[in-house]
Amino acid sequence: MSEKAKLILQGKEYEFPVILGSENEKAIDISSLRAKTGYITLDPGYVNTGATTSSITYLDGELGVLRYRGIPIEQLAEKSTFVETSYLLIYGNLPNKQQLEDFSKSLTMHSMIHEDMKHFFDGYPAAAHPMAILSSMVCSLSAYYPESMNVFDNFDMQVPRLLSKLRTIAAFSYKKSVGHPVIYPQNHLSYCANFLQMMFAVPAEPYEIDDDMVRALNILLILHADHEQNCSTSTVRLVGSSQANMYASVSAGILALWGPLHGGANQAVIEMLESIHNSGTKCADFISKVKDKNSKARLMGFGHRVYKSYDPRAKILKQMTDVILAKRGISDPLLDIAKQMEETALSDPYFIERNLYPNVDFYSGILYKAMGIPVNMFTVMFAIGRLPGWIAHLKEMMEDPNTKIGRPRQIYTGPVSREYVPIESRK
Ligand code: CMC
Repeated sequence: MSEKAKLILQGKEYEFPVILGSENEKAIDISSLRAKTGYITLDPGYVNTGATTSSITYLDGELGVLRYRGIPIEQLAEKSTFVETSYLLIYGNLPNKQQLEDFSKSLTMHSMIHEDMKHFFDGYPAAAHPMAILSSMVCSLSAYYPESMNVFDNFDMQVPRLLSKLRTIAAFSYKKSVGHPVIYPQNHLSYCANFLQMMFAVPAEPYEIDDDMVRALNILLILHADHEQNCSTSTVRLVGSSQANMYASVSAGILALWGPLHGGANQAVIEMLESIHNSGTKCADFISKVKDKNSKARLMGFGHRVYKSYDPRAKILKQMTDVILAKRGISDPLLDIAKQMEETALSDPYFIERNLYPNVDFYSGILYKAMGIPVNMFTVMFAIGRLPGWIAHLKEMMEDPNTKIGRPRQIYTGPVSREYVPIESRK
């Protein structure tokens, strides 16, 4: 694109190239700004800052559009599986039959974790949050695969290994938290079915796979699989930009995901709905509370940095929740409160003016709950879903010849140079 952006600083004019994305997204390339002008830009929370170009995920927050490698999320949720979508995100195209078979087989081959790692679970207190266990276990995998210290080596082998083992670690951490023996993966089961049996089977009786549960899990994981430069993905990219190994980068991403403003919101939503239910608070009163800036309360599961209309993932999940609850014959009062809360918020000027709509986490918790997944595992489920996105971004970054170590600048606002004062002379 030949368009240029002009900047006038102290009477001097500078030109910067304008970059155009494949969906006509526009950016001013300021990579030469400091060298040319001595100035940097200041953008807390990176609200206006593009850290990279990327061909993985497109989202239009105004129109509520989300596509992985060009394919609308609605089509993937309806027709794809999590394994196929993972392949699409990581390798750029939908796999053909043979590629999918090979990929699935390699996931199966890597599903066990080293027996020694099982002892690690015993070192955690029973009440340990599964996200704490997951992040440290994933980092510990690097101790077992020293040949993977160099992120550029054996990448195609590291991908199924991590995708498969993260799911096993997640299920084992749940078993640890309830004091049950771990259940091993079974090679004849699909990725999602295998996870469900590792979570819910007990040695005393055979576990029957429920196809509705498997489909619901596939959809949940697909919807979480990537969301371009979000907090955890940016963390994975930042850590990965130092050429740390894949386990270290992903472990850092898991920790970034944990916070209640990011992946931890799904747990926070259910806790919020439960507290409203248990206290008998009226929706309107709760909404008044979140509008009061002094209360510091937020309507969890609402609002998004990028979506300024209905999050397309929340739309799919809301429908899916109705279907699964009906099929399983469950009526959950929390779903009624959530729907009432949504209705109240969406007609309230505070939410309308700020374009605050339900995000992916508003309904995902209710669905996970209906599937029997405990609340403290919700963010772990998000991590399993987001893993292919993190890996896809690492791969893209490693293959980009323009990648530099991530290193933002700052504007210093502390004291100017001053002398050290000996302790006897200090006031
Ligand atoms: N409840 C009440 N007010 C809100 C909410 C909310 N959930 N979200 C934003 N606002 C208000 C906020 O107070 C601010 O008002 P004002 O302009 O008067 O100061 C305005 O809306 C803009 O909010 P912001 O915090 O500047 O927006 P942001 O883009 O920095 O934050 C967010 C995005 C997701 C962190 C925020 O909307 C939030 O805290 N939501 C609740 C937590 C949540 O559901 N997080 C999950 C996000 S989706 C899953 C994921 O991908 O991580």
